[in-house]
Amino acid sequence: MRNLTITCPDDCHVHLRDGAVMAAVVGDTARRFARAIVMPNLSPPVVTTAQALKYRERILAALPNTIRFTPLMTLYLTDNTPVEEIAKAKQSGQVFAIKYYPRRATTNSDAGVTDISKVYPVLEAMVEHDLPLSVHGEVSDNADIFDRERLFIDRILEPLLERFRDLRVVFEHISTREAVAFVKSGTDRLAATITPHHLLLNRNALFEGGLQPHHYCHPVIKRETDRRALVEAATSGHPRLFLGTDSAPHARSSKENAFGCAGIYTAHAALELYAEVFEEAGAIDRLEGFAGIYGSAFYGLPRNTDRVTLRKDVWTVPRSLPLGDDVIVPFRAGKACAWRLADG
Ligand code: DOR
Ligand code: ZN
Repeated sequence: MRNLTITCPDDCHVHLRDGAVMAAVVGDTARRFARAIVMPNLSPPVVTTAQALKYRERILAALPNTIRFTPLMTLYLTDNTPVEEIAKAKQSGQVFAIKYYPRRATTNSDAGVTDISKVYPVLEAMVEHDLPLSVHGEVSDNADIFDRERLFIDRILEPLLERFRDLRVVFEHISTREAVAFVKSGTDRLAATITPHHLLLNRNALFEGGLQPHHYCHPVIKRETDRRALVEAATSGHPRLFLGTDSAPHARSSKENAFGCAGIYTAHAALELYAEVFEEAGAIDRLEGFAGIYGSAFYGLPRNTDRVTLRKDVWTVPRSLPLGDDVIVPFRAGKACAWRLADG
């Protein structure tokens, strides 16, 4: 097959940043996706509805009028989030999830939650207003970095779902076979996003030919057995597993650094990379559900009516892309990509 036309997809998890960085990257997402759930971990973080609405305006202002794209905003949950903020968020009609970062679990999570019990009243308000909790699922203590997602399920997520039986939860960027099994066996209130990099890489990619900072992200890429479980799950047509790139731009100077930042930039080829995974798994016919139908259904959004066409046509990803005063090294830099946007 050389052409594939599907419902225009949604990216259910993306980092767009702000200012010059946002202006440099947002077009990559907006050209491929009709909508995107925009993460709130700016510095300082987006903690109020008023801030989210202003951030939304800045995103739209950075795009040319010719591109149709809807940013779906989120708020950053802190120990001090006022309960009343949840009603405001819902009433705005522009906030679609509240993001829970365990404090110090990942990039810009210093303002995250120290102890989930501190936000129980806020979670109750989220149930009342039917706003989903978007979860960074890693414990943030000194546990082995490859075990943090698995431990998070046992210590935090499972008890949380038990306690809040009507809370809708998106377990973001799952990276282990344990997370796959947990989501598949869970209730209809629990869904998960899967990134292209967790589908394409195993942890050897962190060390191949030398330390590879551009493959470092949180949750850290896991074993080949985990990758295979993720591919099997993503391509199985399961309606609670859907596309969320976790595309996370960092300047080259922050990645190629003794303290390199976590985050992989995939927005420049996101849909194309997923197409590669689905084709290799013999499941290209299931890409549309994963990319453009299940995510919006879980979030209670109307299905997109526009369509997008991908063409099987090899191209080489540039070694770097402009990023304000610096550059970004995109995923697959200097290497081949099998699919491209038909009008890209
Ligand atoms: O690798 C990551 N980068 N994981 C996250 O959870 C955050 C993200 C970022 O903001 O850079
Ligand atoms: Zn993220």
